[in-house]
Amino acid sequence: MNPLDPAPPRVYVTRTLPDAGMRELKRLPGPVEVYRGDGPPSRAELLDAVAGAAGLVTLLTESVDDELLTAAGPGLRVVANCAVGYDNIDVEAAARRGVVVTNTPDVLDEATADLAMTLILAASRRVVEADRFVRAGSSWIWDPRLFLGLDVSAGATLGIVGLGRIGLAVARRAQAFGMRLLATRISDAVRADADSLGVTEVSLPTLLSSSDVVTLHCPLTPSTHHLIGATELDAMPSHAVLVNTARGPVVDEAALAAALEQGTIGAAALDVFEHEPRIHPRLLELDNVIAVPHIASAGRATRDAMATLAVRNVAAVLAGEGPLTPVRT
Ligand code: GLV
Repeated sequence: MNPLDPAPPRVYVTRTLPDAGMRELKRLPGPVEVYRGDGPPSRAELLDAVAGAAGLVTLLTESVDDELLTAAGPGLRVVANCAVGYDNIDVEAAARRGVVVTNTPDVLDEATADLAMTLILAASRRVVEADRFVRAGSSWIWDPRLFLGLDVSAGATLGIVGLGRIGLAVARRAQAFGMRLLATRISDAVRADADSLGVTEVSLPTLLSSSDVVTLHCPLTPSTHHLIGATELDAMPSHAVLVNTARGPVVDEAALAAALEQGTIGAAALDVFEHEPRIHPRLLELDNVIAVPHIASAGRATRDAMATLAVRNVAAVLAGEGPLTPVRT
């Protein structure tokens, strides 16, 4: 090697990736360091490990802020988030430094919509509560009033808050179940498809007061933080189900716990939480809550596709090509 040649670009990866992503890392031209701990690296480990990196593959558990970008230094060229959401990244601070930020859109739409639909059905028909009841050894015999829930397929109304690609994938499933479809903020990219599914665009207050089930699919931004709080929960019918597979802080968790305790709404099914991995303790005491640990995109093939895309984004930028899926700001 010519001693004047620049060092090959180093890439730091904050967690062991799904297998396809680990294979893809081997194709990168320079050294790759993967954090091998059980969870994410501590902040101190992260700040130390990113120094001198040209590329980072991050997860939504890492806060990629000004401090981290400074710690990485001027050689950093790309941060590839292995997630569609990128609220963990200070995109403006990255742009100021000329660092490209990428995410993993599209490849997780169907898996995420599958989980959202699963939660819609499970909460509406009280499946998890009924399972807990049976496992607790409760005495039962067929009863016409046992575990009555919402008739999803009898024209129940689904309100989709934020209808982009994932919301559209949920709308397709819900339409097949015979649900009436309302939505806020239909993105231009999916408007024609939403129209053909018969989705009606309405304001948030109308959606909340008219929906039997509300499912959240908006990104977390300053304007969607606590988008659903006490006032919004009050506006929902008392039998309504709230499903969140978007981001925890879109919902005011303390207000949600109070609304569920007081019967302001009927049930909630949550994949995401305001302060992950902590969950508001009162939510966990309630029978009408389903809580799963942020697994909406956790299909095997989906997670392989996300990791592969993230690593290919790094490869493209380091090769001087345009990123495959830059975040759209
Ligand atoms: C998961 O929550 C993602 O944003 O991909």
